[in-house]
Amino acid sequence: MTWQANILTLFPEMFPGPLGLSLAGRALREGRWGLRAMDIRGFATDRHRTVDDTPFGGGAGMVMRPDVLDAACAAAVAESPAAPLVYLTPRGRLLDQALVRDLAAGPGVVLLCGRYEGVDQRVIEARGMVEVSAGDVVLSGGEPAALLLLDACVRLLPGVMGAAASAEEESHGTEGLLEYPHYTRPAEWQGRAVPPVLLSGHHAEVARWRRTEAEAATRARRPDLWDRHLRRRAESHEPAE
Ligand code: ADE
Repeated sequence: MTWQANILTLFPEMFPGPLGLSLAGRALREGRWGLRAMDIRGFATDRHRTVDDTPFGGGAGMVMRPDVLDAACAAAVAESPAAPLVYLTPRGRLLDQALVRDLAAGPGVVLLCGRYEGVDQRVIEARGMVEVSAGDVVLSGGEPAALLLLDACVRLLPGVMGAAASAEEESHGTEGLLEYPHYTRPAEWQGRAVPPVLLSGHHAEVARWRRTEAEAATRARRPDLWDRHLRRRAESHEPAE
């Protein structure tokens, strides 16, 4: 079965967008994953094809109607019954590589992209949506977050990324460390030399240097990831009961 992404959006023309190019685009054309953008407006029932209304309790902006969204979800879920229904919202749990790995290992995703001020809370609950945020930033809608999530998942699908090993070593790989820095020719550029160990040909020393650099970068830049790494390392060294 092909990994299938069904997107519910008011802007279906945003898809595949950048995912039609590069690695993901080639994989899409090769049938390694499927993409279908469904226009939420197509599920409105009134003459004006209304998808939103003013918020109860007052306030600025508009809220997407639960009845219209539920009909849209029903259509998307009918196509991908086993796929999790993900609502992209800054209120959601932060997307990370562990969630990306989980989603990529499953049958696919149904992604709901919100607009306006949000989505009626009742349809989120009734449909058991998983709320996911692309980061502590506020976008004008869920579409760029959906593209980001899909890019991260698709590159993990079988046959999409040429060198499988690079998925293991890179930032947020299985060890939870940021990646070490990279260098290529020329060996000296604008008076800056490449770290000599990388030119030494000593594979073990190169590996040790990269490990040290990865740890130092993680400690300095992402103390949150560093703490988690230390906790995991401690747990894995605990004697078995
Ligand atoms: N919609 C608006 N901002 C968002 C974010 N940070 N993540 C996911 N969806 C969003």
